[in-house]
Amino acid sequence: MAQFKPFEMEGMPIEEQPMNWKDMVKAPYDKKAVDAYTRTRIILMNGIENNAVLMSHAIERMHPDPEVKKSMALMRRIDSQQQVAVNWLNPADQSVIETTLGYEQVAVDLTANLAKNEPDPYVKQTLDFALLEDFDHLYRYSCLYDYIEGGDPEAIVQGKTEVKPGRPTSIEHRHPDDSMRKHYDKDTADIKTKMNYNTIVSGEQQTMLFYRAHGSMYPEEIARQLYAEIAEIEEQHVTQYGLLGDPRETMLEKMAMIELNEAYNYYSCAQTESDPRIRGIWELFTRMEVAHFSECARLIKKIEGRDIRDIMQADIIEPLIVFESNKDYVNSVIANQLDLAPHNMEYVRMRDLPDDWASFGYQRAMNAKGVPSEEVVGKAGRELAQRDQAENVKRVKQEMARRVEKGMAAVPAR
Ligand SMILES: [Fe+2]
Ligand SMILES: [Fe+2]
Ligand SMILES: [Fe+2]
Ligand SMILES: [Fe+2]
Repeated sequence: MAQFKPFEMEGMPIEEQPMNWKDMVKAPYDKKAVDAYTRTRIILMNGIENNAVLMSHAIERMHPDPEVKKSMALMRRIDSQQQVAVNWLNPADQSVIETTLGYEQVAVDLTANLAKNEPDPYVKQTLDFALLEDFDHLYRYSCLYDYIEGGDPEAIVQGKTEVKPGRPTSIEHRHPDDSMRKHYDKDTADIKTKMNYNTIVSGEQQTMLFYRAHGSMYPEEIARQLYAEIAEIEEQHVTQYGLLGDPRETMLEKMAMIELNEAYNYYSCAQTESDPRIRGIWELFTRMEVAHFSECARLIKKIEGRDIRDIMQADIIEPLIVFESNKDYVNSVIANQLDLAPHNMEYVRMRDLPDDWASFGYQRAMNAKGVPSEEVVGKAGRELAQRDQAENVKRVKQEMARRVEKGMAAVPAR
């Protein structure tokens, strides 16, 4: 497969990048004909763009240099237009729940691909950990899809991603203290780790924003509650992933890595896209991002006196990010890691958690009046509902329930 070599690529001059309305708003895909992974690429790239825009806004508010503010404004306008161009590829007849299943398919097959190719063992472990949670979300939303729209999740995932429980959503609720994570070292981290970091933060942030913005669009109480519940797990995911980044990277360094990651992701999409019309968009946007990256490198040189090559310590990024089926990988992580839990910034077996683990009390409080992600299973058709009866899933739920009880007994009554 092709390698990504940003210094050998020609960017499109930024002044030529603004799009007119008709070029910006492109015809949507046909939801009945689209390949599942074309849809996931569109969902991911929308998230990648939104993250670039959000980070650029944060820098504009904090960076003292007017030249930086002006340059951020220009690049941000282009990233903003790209975001619309990409997100508007989604068709109006794709329901919120159908799009949601696409979001969780992104979370599963993107996270698996990043984890498989992640050189830093702690970052890989963090990816594997959350993989099992998003995998479970796909199942819970599939139950909702069956109940509310009478839909078959296979119409969305197309047999590429399994629909069954992972780490049950009901036991994913943790005290914010347990979202703390260690960060990579900016001076020694592999460039692939930095790209994986920015990719997963963007993807999870977009998922969180989508659930928060759309969870109120259904009248059914169970739908409103399920979106509220899973949006909270995405908030946990954004927190844990965000903390993996080195806070000692300067603002311009972070922006440079974000723009480089945009280019790397578009290039990856272009190499793997099956729809020629959409591949053309990925190719054009790759050239736009290469120019954004060069502009960030110029700013770093001028304002910080540093060379981007010294920061990257690499001129090739590999392998590319690929959407493909990961059933064996996901099943092996399920087999080995279902009962992991974060404690003191490490991952431990549930049985090794201390009785005063902050999340025992938190979970008991949050689940006190019933759990939407459990209730939705009872509303789904029998075939789908039965998948929740798998032995490994029942066992991990029972173990958590027992530990929550014991944990509460260990905490003095207030
Ligand atoms: Fe962009
Ligand atoms: Fe998720
Ligand atoms: Fe997630
Ligand atoms: Fe960009």
